[in-house]
Amino acid sequence: MSNLPQVYRNVDDLRSALLPLRQEGKTIALVPTMGALHAGHLSLVKKAKEQADIVIVSIFVNPKQFAPGEDFESYPRTEASDLQKLADYDVMGVFIPNAREMYPNGFATSIQIEGPALGLETDHRPHMFNGVATVVAKLLLAVLPDVAVFGEKDYQQLRVIKQLAKDLHLPTRIIGAPTVREVDGLAMSSRNEYLDKDQRKTAVTISQALNIARDALHNGESWIEVQKKALATLKLSGFTTDYFELRHAKHLGHPETAKGARILVAAKVGDTRLIDNIEV
Ligand code: PAF
Repeated sequence: MSNLPQVYRNVDDLRSALLPLRQEGKTIALVPTMGALHAGHLSLVKKAKEQADIVIVSIFVNPKQFAPGEDFESYPRTEASDLQKLADYDVMGVFIPNAREMYPNGFATSIQIEGPALGLETDHRPHMFNGVATVVAKLLLAVLPDVAVFGEKDYQQLRVIKQLAKDLHLPTRIIGAPTVREVDGLAMSSRNEYLDKDQRKTAVTISQALNIARDALHNGESWIEVQKKALATLKLSGFTTDYFELRHAKHLGHPETAKGARILVAAKVGDTRLIDNIEV
């Protein structure tokens, strides 16, 4: 049986542990997560290991990226099984701060980000990317990794974090890792746990709609037609769609051409909101 990774609960302890390794010239990769780890997260850890000598995983359900009434309280918290899963991946440490460590009394700073953060998710969750940018900046400054790895499933988030690192001259390379999917194509997500049996069956429509839309664009159909059909399919299968949009893969504005662009979708089945995306 593999050993459980070392847990660090505060920034000072984590920095003290990393200092001698950094002095030896070891490179460090960070994989920020909110826990409830699944194969998607573990693929990020694998990618991180390819990029650096040492891997740190962080687990923190960040209250600043949830609005009142969203699923902050019910978000799955599975620390023991997360550590068990990481035991097989030779990570040097897992940073699991509590909210007081990240946001002590009197905490007064917030990062406001625009550019790729505008539109899409922000139209529906306006608080979200400032919360993400604030916590990710804090995590990157706590660990000062050479590389940090984020999933392409949260594609807009990945672009936002790349922008953040560039704008703030953070000395970390931000890398995306491909979405990991269930056998039927559903993108892996900690929120899939909320789906009941019927919703789980419905959920596959999202990745199917993305694949059909991509193929239709390849076949020369117009985006207007493609989008109309996708919205109709999602509605018919029981989804309420927030957006199904074709965007430039880098700045996430409207693209001049579909080639190399990205289709991004967010839709709700029951109370569960799922997001996914695909490269055209
Ligand atoms: O993608 C996530 O799990 C979170 O948004 C992140 C990047 C860990 C920030 O809280």
